[in-house]
Amino acid sequence: MCPKNSIVSTISTFDKVVVELGIGDGQLLNKIIEYEKSPNTCYVGIEIDPNQIQKARDKLRGENVCLINESFEKVLSYFPDNYVDQVIFVLPPPSYIDKSMESEWILLYQNILKKLKEKGIFTIVTEIINDLLEPVSDEDFRSWKDWLISKFVTIGFKINDIFEDSPNYYSSHFLEQFRGDHLRIKLITLILEKAGPRIK
Ligand SMILES: C[S@@+](CC[C@H](N)C(=O)[O-])C[C@H]1O[C@@H](n2cnc3c(N)ncnc32)[C@H](O)[C@@H]1O
Repeated sequence: MCPKNSIVSTISTFDKVVVELGIGDGQLLNKIIEYEKSPNTCYVGIEIDPNQIQKARDKLRGENVCLINESFEKVLSYFPDNYVDQVIFVLPPPSYIDKSMESEWILLYQNILKKLKEKGIFTIVTEIINDLLEPVSDEDFRSWKDWLISKFVTIGFKINDIFEDSPNYYSSHFLEQFRGDHLRIKLITLILEKAGPRIK
């Protein structure tokens, strides 16, 4: 559907490029495409699990959809710098967002920033979970939220918007599951922008 090594030439005919990382079964990407109604945008979905990508392929068949069974680290490296209009990452696995694993994931977000165009957007939806099956306290939520914000600002992103929950038209298997347990699992969405160079 989209040859891994010639991805850029395949998508270069489109006005915009939106990349979703770790698309799972493709339910969310399908929703986003339906919602945006933008045939001149190329939607690139990346998923490492062959069973999941097959489910996504069964759902998503448009001319402007490019699904790749590969790691997102590798696929990001195929794009030139300053190339992508939007990157979406919904519910990153713990090794890509947990506090304790920062040294493993920081490079990914630095690369996302590099690959985005100036004013390009990175949307990340992530969650805090109370492992003791208790509600997440306001204090824990606030300090986690402050930590997340400071991380992404330190990487170089500008904060455009932050809200609890995910954008309302987003839906996926895991999002539905997490929304059903909203006391113990709190979602947050960060809309981050690649700022232009500072004018002195
Ligand atoms: C928690 S699931 C979320 C799936 C989907 N975004 C959703 O909201 O339902 C994380 C997904 O990322 C995929 N994944 C994990 N590491 C990956 C990597 N390095 N490259 C591509 N996909 C990856 C997993 O296979 C899984 O489908």
